[in-house]
Amino acid sequence: MAVTRTFSIIKPDATRRNLTGGVTRMLEEAGLCVIASKRIQMSRQQAEGFYAVHKERPFFGDLVAFMTSGPVVVQVLEGEDAVKRNRDIMGATNPADAAEGTIRKTYAESIEANSAHGSDSEENAKIEIDFFFKPEEIVG
Ligand code: CMP
Repeated sequence: MAVTRTFSIIKPDATRRNLTGGVTRMLEEAGLCVIASKRIQMSRQQAEGFYAVHKERPFFGDLVAFMTSGPVVVQVLEGEDAVKRNRDIMGATNPADAAEGTIRKTYAESIEANSAHGSDSEENAKIEIDFFFKPEEIVG
């Protein structure tokens, strides 16, 4: 299995509850390595741009408001089959559907305040990594 990269966000509901370490530990225990990480306050423009694919969805306005409601931690993760590995440890988008032992089952408050984002494909991982990181900020 090839070593690849994916993009992760620890969302405002998790940073508010001081769970940056808890989420990161679960990522690391799943075999992912944090090769870039920064805590930022996302601007409205950044959130709208990052989630542009969802702009026609009814939850778009609330999603942007939530993602700008407090600090987030953006990360680049590396590991074997990183996109799938990250999605497996995150669990389903809705914590009510997430499997035991996943980040969202353990920590998420709701489908919106679901503690973590992870890229859904290698193609989107590259786009999302480039959205938040300069190449020199990533040390693999
Ligand atoms: P994320 O992986 O960050 O991608 C888009 C986000 O929209 C998703 O996680 C959810 O947190 C959020 N969201 C809010 N409401 C919904 C919904 N009804 N269906 C899907 N995603 C939703």
